[in-house]
Amino acid sequence: MDRWVALCRFVCLLTGVTATALTTSLFWAAAVQRKIQSEGQNHRKDAHNESLSIPRIKSLAALAVTAAASSDLYDTDALPNPEVITRLNAMFALPLDRLKVIVKQIISDMKTGLERDGGAIKMLPTFVTKRPSGRERGSYLAIDFGGTNLRVCELVLNGHAGEPQLLQSKFQISENVKTGSGSALFDFIAECVRSFFQTHHALDAHDWNSKRWQLGFTFSFPVDQISIKAEIENFDEKESANLSTDTSFIQGTLITWTKGFTATNVIDRDSIRLLEDAFERMNLNIEVTALVNDTTGTLISHAYQNPDTYAGVILGTGSNCAYVEKFSNITKFRGPPPPLGTTEMLINMEWGGFDDAQVVIPRTKYDLLLDRNTPTPGSYTFEQLISGMYIGEIVRLVVLDLARTGDLFAKATIVVRSPLHKQYGFETSYMSRIERDHSFDLADVKALLEGDEFEIVGTTLADRKIIKAVCEMIGLRSARLAAAGVCAVVTKMNKLNGCTIGIDGSLFEKYPHYPNRMRDAMREILGISSENILLEQAKDGSGQGAGLIAALAAEAAVGIQ
Ligand code: BGC
Repeated sequence: MDRWVALCRFVCLLTGVTATALTTSLFWAAAVQRKIQSEGQNHRKDAHNESLSIPRIKSLAALAVTAAASSDLYDTDALPNPEVITRLNAMFALPLDRLKVIVKQIISDMKTGLERDGGAIKMLPTFVTKRPSGRERGSYLAIDFGGTNLRVCELVLNGHAGEPQLLQSKFQISENVKTGSGSALFDFIAECVRSFFQTHHALDAHDWNSKRWQLGFTFSFPVDQISIKAEIENFDEKESANLSTDTSFIQGTLITWTKGFTATNVIDRDSIRLLEDAFERMNLNIEVTALVNDTTGTLISHAYQNPDTYAGVILGTGSNCAYVEKFSNITKFRGPPPPLGTTEMLINMEWGGFDDAQVVIPRTKYDLLLDRNTPTPGSYTFEQLISGMYIGEIVRLVVLDLARTGDLFAKATIVVRSPLHKQYGFETSYMSRIERDHSFDLADVKALLEGDEFEIVGTTLADRKIIKAVCEMIGLRSARLAAAGVCAVVTKMNKLNGCTIGIDGSLFEKYPHYPNRMRDAMREILGISSENILLEQAKDGSGQGAGLIAALAAEAAVGIQ
């Protein structure tokens, strides 16, 4: 019996062990199977991820833009490296305290420039001592020269009898003209005037060449002016003899070229004489009666519509400002005395030369590189940070540097002939286009970078986001510096209680958000008073302004109104 009990116990034990082993092995088998299943799922998930990201991105070029957008959603590459953005932001930012220092320094340099020559801001007297009254009459020619294009205009003023009429022709200024000989440059200008006559007047030269035209010449470079020509001709000979020798017949000498112009034999020579000689060579019956800067022309033409205009600003290929100054403050003034009773005179600031010593505005390595590669390093460096000729080039230098470090275009190919490799190959108008692209996948930025303009194949959304951010930083810095300039001018004029600033140039007119960025910065700097300062678009004012100044010069000058 005992043997039977022992046998049964042994069988039970064996069964138990077997059952346990069976259960355990079943449990393990299930666990292993679960693991295998889960690994399989994970594996498939990875594979799925892979097909969402890499292969899809590779085929993006072939897909419609919308498809590219949705695939980029899952692409971690779509997020730019935040460190890159932070680093660049720190380089290009202009916080309020820095802006205030800049404004203070501009005002101080303006005062110095009114006292003596040779300052950072040249503060050139313009000899324009009055603004148009609306009574002006007659037909005047004007040339607007100094940016990307040359314009020839004819302005017909009818006094109060009606709106002025303006005829004009536009010509592109080639690199050859900018960088060739001075006489070729002035011949080109005369040729444009002849072509204007042929377009707008009877083809017979007698028709337009029988009368002697008076012309206002907008020459948008730093010019040391002795007088508007009409005034010097009325100027008593005895008095003119008191001026330093030979200067009585010199109306304006070019101090330096800017904006990439390098034409030979023009610096230190009288620009009016050079132009009149070219007219003579071409048998044109024209007398230059006024020499004008584009800022002065802009101020005058805007004041013709809005008498509350006290400054004219150019934010285009170059940048500068003219404003109304108390005549008694211009203590360095030399030359024929202005008409009796003159209380004010327009000053061409030439603010592009501000901070050439590079002590007030923080410069990045890209700004310094840009400056080194200009024909006149160390000159007009404020203009380089603001104006349309240069800020695209700064973007290009940043982009190239980021491509070199691998922060940009890591997966893209840049063809050797891409304009990205050429100096000034990144036009400022591209910045406008990039900043205007608010699409979720920056489709137009992609079209620009990958199209004929740049031929960069295979950009990622992250690349495009970085490039857009770079444009924003450099565009914003430009607007904030321009705003600092305007704040300094209105403060110097003591016009914080209200005035209008006429602004011309493609940055103000076409660059998205530019006017608002300026207004925001002015609000930061001036507080509530900034609301009293109206920034108004003054389109193509400098040509019309030169015509108006020629009309004013033809009248007896009687002091600013
Ligand atoms: C010139 C100024 C001009 C400005 C805007 C600068 O480079 O020096 O005279 O007003 O460009 O055209």
